[in-house]
Amino acid sequence: MDFHLTDDQKDLQARARELARGSFEERAAEIDRTEQYPWHNVEDLKNGGFMGMTIPKEYGGQGRTFLDAALVIEQMAQVCGVTGRIVVESNMGAISTVMKYGTEKQKKMAAAFVLDGDKPAICITEPEAGSAATDMTTRADKKGGKYILNGKKHWITGAGASRLHLVFARVFDEAGEEQGIGGFLGVREETPGLSIGNREPTMGLRGIPEAEVIMQDMEVSEDALVMPPRGLRKGFADLMDAYNSQRVGAGTMALGIAQGAYEHALAYVKEREQFGRPIYEFQGLQWMLADMAIQIDCAQLMLYRASANAGSGFPDATEAAKAKVVAADMALKVTNDALQLFGAAGYSRRSPMERFCRDGRMFSIGGGTAQILRTVVASRILNRKLPQTRDGFTKLAEREATMAREAAE
Ligand code: FAD
Ligand code: COA
Repeated sequence: MDFHLTDDQKDLQARARELARGSFEERAAEIDRTEQYPWHNVEDLKNGGFMGMTIPKEYGGQGRTFLDAALVIEQMAQVCGVTGRIVVESNMGAISTVMKYGTEKQKKMAAAFVLDGDKPAICITEPEAGSAATDMTTRADKKGGKYILNGKKHWITGAGASRLHLVFARVFDEAGEEQGIGGFLGVREETPGLSIGNREPTMGLRGIPEAEVIMQDMEVSEDALVMPPRGLRKGFADLMDAYNSQRVGAGTMALGIAQGAYEHALAYVKEREQFGRPIYEFQGLQWMLADMAIQIDCAQLMLYRASANAGSGFPDATEAAKAKVVAADMALKVTNDALQLFGAAGYSRRSPMERFCRDGRMFSIGGGTAQILRTVVASRILNRKLPQTRDGFTKLAEREATMAREAAE
């Protein structure tokens, strides 16, 4: 696979770098300290053409690929994880779901929000349905030409800052029959019954809120439903297929944060002296640096592969899961080792090293945990569904037996 960047990609990367290394780097510590959403950065991202890059040209975007977006995310996350996150969610996840599956009206609306600086929120997780996302209880009941949604999501990135929301819910027809899982578009401060609950005090990425999103008789017209290509029965699977883009985006953020920490460490070992010589002369530290460089390269190649192979669709589930697992594990190790190379100076809040560690911690949890993603990979390797409920394999065997019987008749 050839990852030589085109002149256009090099130019995009350079423009992203210039912006990141200017005001974004300067503001990063303040954003972390104040825990305020960085509206100044959003304005700069918007003016620089980094919000909604992947939106097709006919809807006002640039029709850029996920790999293009990844190049920008890396640059932003190297200096400010929160800004990297905004670039992920304004080019992948909810927005790419709408741009691929949505109706004309939905696409125009979503594109307008993002190009105007909105980072859409993707609302899947519930207090009792985290890894077991298919256990969600948020429901959407059809009533006339409308859907009425009730339920609560939590840990929703951007909740309170985002306007556009893509809310996953179980869909019921007028007769009360369950149809499957679908995604509904709601707009904060416009859609009746959609509100924001408590904000979590988080370990890292503190400039972007993580909060509850509450649907209490949230009323939307039926055209708020983003219909997955295979209909509601395969709704969850198709929505997760689109979500693989967000997993690659999250992995790329982890990559950028690790690169940022590594870069600081590399500079520091050349300037810090102990025992009368620069600390890089100690072989123990040389090997730490080499391991960091190797792991960063490894994650970068896997993430670029997952992005590039998406073509005009979404990243493959296995490639996305593998790349996110590697990037998340790598970010934990590299940010921690980079801090170690600073000694006490890294442990001080005056240095960005502790922020890199805190910001790099979430990737083995959010967007599918390291354990769940390994199960996704195992399922593909074994070419078997791997149900996680106690009776999952019994039910699966019964279903397969029925299918075999029906095929024989
Ligand atoms: P649980 O599912 O309760 O897991 C607890 C532990 O058990 C974990 O270690 C897990 O790996 C392990 N575990 C559970 N089941 C299994 C299994 N079958 N096999 C092996 N191990 C298992 N959600 C959204 O919908 N939208 C967002 O924007 C969003 N943003 C987030 C941002 C951050 C910073 C974080 C931390 C989370 C975010 N989430 C979001 C939620 C996230 O997707 C969930 O935290 C995640 O899916 C795990 O769910 P949980 O936290 O309930 O953990
Ligand atoms: N890409 C494409 N399809 C996917 C997918 C992915 N990443 N993950 C699941 N699917 C499909 C499955 O192939 C299956 O399709 P099928 O009905 O055609 O067989 C369907 O979705 C249900 O998946 P399954 O693994 O059978 O579901 P489950 O009830 O055992 O639930 C998950 C497991 C999918 C919820 C769990 O693996 C998972 O991903 N949890 C993390 C949720 C998450 O990432 N939340 C982030 C919120 S920001």
